[in-house]
Amino acid sequence: MAYNLLKGKKGIIFGALDENSIAWKTAERIHEEGGTFVLTNAPIALRMGQIDELAKKTDSEVIPADATSEEDLENLVAKSTEILGGKLDFVLHAIGMSVNVRKGRAYTDEKYDFTTKGWDISALSFHKVLQTLHKADAMNEWGSIVALTYMAAQRVFPDYNDMADNKAYLESVARSFGYFFGKDKKVRVNTISQSPTATTAGQGVKGFDGFINYAEKMSPLGNATALECADYTVTLFSDLTKKVTMQNLFHDGGFSNTGVSQEVMEQFAK
Ligand code: NAI
Repeated sequence: MAYNLLKGKKGIIFGALDENSIAWKTAERIHEEGGTFVLTNAPIALRMGQIDELAKKTDSEVIPADATSEEDLENLVAKSTEILGGKLDFVLHAIGMSVNVRKGRAYTDEKYDFTTKGWDISALSFHKVLQTLHKADAMNEWGSIVALTYMAAQRVFPDYNDMADNKAYLESVARSFGYFFGKDKKVRVNTISQSPTATTAGQGVKGFDGFINYAEKMSPLGNATALECADYTVTLFSDLTKKVTMQNLFHDGGFSNTGVSQEVMEQFAK
């Protein structure tokens, strides 16, 4: 159901690769709620993914940008404000990639070139996005910026590898930059800590099936889906959450506050 919550709002959406992507579902929901936006992804992902289909469906333009490149980001922000006809109201950062995970390197055997690259893509890129928007004065007052994260930033999930450290850094950037963006421009910055979700990035985590099933059984409300994450993001981009900022917001069906569930206990009962 649509409520016109984002009527007249303009923004940029990073990270829609295919129809499973959380950013893809978010773009569709924002479109339904009356928002307009530019879609962006790394040039290589644009070649491999299906973003043109999403652009067509949502009446939006696509601008390539490697989120680690300051030059690409400056170009993206300048072109987006031009295309959309003014400053922005929302930005979604839905970007993650660990080279160590991709290459099968254990957390105790990191190759630091891989670590640095993964950190740049998954964590520092959020600072780069925020700094580019801030310097260009590209956000409207009461605008809203969201990045997606995972609870491995607070608790150990061994197979999440160096992405855990990247997410901890990402959440810290949201807090720190949220202070300055709030003071200077009345813009809010938050992270949503989402349940495990079957996407390209999610399925890259070793043992993902076990991981997602365990979370499902542990969460009183069950895992949050990509579409539900999109709904939550819509609320954070709307005017109904104007004073929510510098927060890491768990969107996980209650997983993060559950010690153990009946279903999980039953697996161990004699
Ligand atoms: P996805 O694989 O669909 O999206 C990841 C995106 O990052 C892709 O579109 C990819 O092209 C983009 N990307 C990679 N390198 C880039 C670069 N240099 N510049 C610009 N974009 C780049 O997967 P998903 O799951 O939708 O991921 C979105 C976000 O949600 C990520 O931050 C992820 O860590 C986070 N998240 C995912 C969970 C899951 O279980 N799938 C759980 C919690 C958070």
